[in-house]
Amino acid sequence: MRPPLIAGNWKMNKTPSEARALLADLVPRVSGAAGVEVAVAPPFPALEAAAAAVAGSPVRLAAQNLHWEPAGAFTGEVSATMLADLGVAYVIVGHSERRQLFGDTDETVARRAAAALDAEITPIVCVGESLDERESGRALDVVAAQVRGSVGPLGAAGAGRVVLAYEPVWAIGTGRTATSAQAQEVHARIRSVLGELAGPDRAAEVRILYGGSVKPDNVAGLMAEPDVDGALVGGASLDAETFASVVCFRV
Ligand code: PGA
Repeated sequence: MRPPLIAGNWKMNKTPSEARALLADLVPRVSGAAGVEVAVAPPFPALEAAAAAVAGSPVRLAAQNLHWEPAGAFTGEVSATMLADLGVAYVIVGHSERRQLFGDTDETVARRAAAALDAEITPIVCVGESLDERESGRALDVVAAQVRGSVGPLGAAGAGRVVLAYEPVWAIGTGRTATSAQAQEVHARIRSVLGELAGPDRAAEVRILYGGSVKPDNVAGLMAEPDVDGALVGGASLDAETFASVVCFRV
């Protein structure tokens, strides 16, 4: 019902030449991963090289952000139309680094997600609590509010077309992963909020990825949870062999 999706978020890493080399190594390693959808999210300058490198393979292309306007006087921004023309299938929106460092809010995340959907690109909407919010017992409420704010404005049909990514901020790039039980607890809450927004049938189809220090040795445990439908992988996606081991978590 929900084919697992493993997406690599390269963040601000890899030149176009490096992207070509990484994908030349990665594509043959993951092409046989039955039943798992694989995507890579290079930085914008490497997208075209990446598109050529994954052409004809099952690896899908993702971008790391987009602006909500289709075109115009928005210096430094990139539109959904531009990404669609490159063959981008997914776009990450509202990553915690965008929220913390670049001013993204639930409202702007929802606008970005809506623009992606209009261009037939699936947004990967990121949510997640800070360490302080977890330690004060507010993780579930914070994440539920982010889902309502970032996905609610898309309407019931739109909310049913996104991918969600739960990424606890304290687990990103820290080597500290949420336990499978912690991830499952939050994912179940996210699905229940999606049920309110999109209806239970649509909510049952939405994939909810876990992100935050996913590695070859912890991915299988996370994926065994009923509401964990994939992973958004940062550091471990920058090396072909390591990322392929994450993708091939079943073997
Ligand atoms: P990480 O990053 O795997 O390096 O923790 C995950 C992310 O930020 O998407």
